[in-house]
Amino acid sequence: MKKRFAIFASGNGSNAENIIRYFRTHDLNGEVTLVVCNKPDARVIERSRRLDVPTQVLSRNDINNSEVILELLERYRVDVIVLAGFLLMIPRFLIQQYHNRIVNIHPSLLPKFGGKGMYGMYVHEAVVAAREHQTGITIHLVNEKYDDGRILFQATVPVNDTDTPAQVAAKVQQLESEHLPRILAATFL
Ligand code: GRF
Repeated sequence: MKKRFAIFASGNGSNAENIIRYFRTHDLNGEVTLVVCNKPDARVIERSRRLDVPTQVLSRNDINNSEVILELLERYRVDVIVLAGFLLMIPRFLIQQYHNRIVNIHPSLLPKFGGKGMYGMYVHEAVVAAREHQTGITIHLVNEKYDDGRILFQATVPVNDTDTPAQVAAKVQQLESEHLPRILAATFL
């Protein structure tokens, strides 16, 4: 039986698309069976529907409602949840139900540039403002605190003095697409 992954995303969805494609094009014992999004106009919805992955838009209230979200995850028999640019806090009951089976990707070298408000471009702006010489990605398990669960993998990339936040973001995205699907497969399959 294949392991069944759900991806939770709020925005662009390049990681979501990349994971879906990787699982389809490699001979793996896993598949993405559901995408959950909290923003009705997010690009990830178009991407996952085009790839024929069942896609569900849920409000913040739905995500915090154990009956709604647990029923959905049960209906799709989800084994692992991947947070790929998902901006809402995961409710405690879900973390308990999926203990050590929820993964987040964060676009910095945690514990640096993590915590509340540190998401998307804010992270890369902070990295440039702090004149860091390197940044990177952190793939970690999710516990009750923001960006705090056990780290599964980190990869680094140099930051040059002249790099803009957008240039740093592009380098980090490159790392994400290179490593996230592979680490998911290595960890759970
Ligand atoms: C990524 O940088 C990821 O690390 C994050 O938010 C961004 C999402 O990008 N936390 P996308 O929606 O997968 O394109």
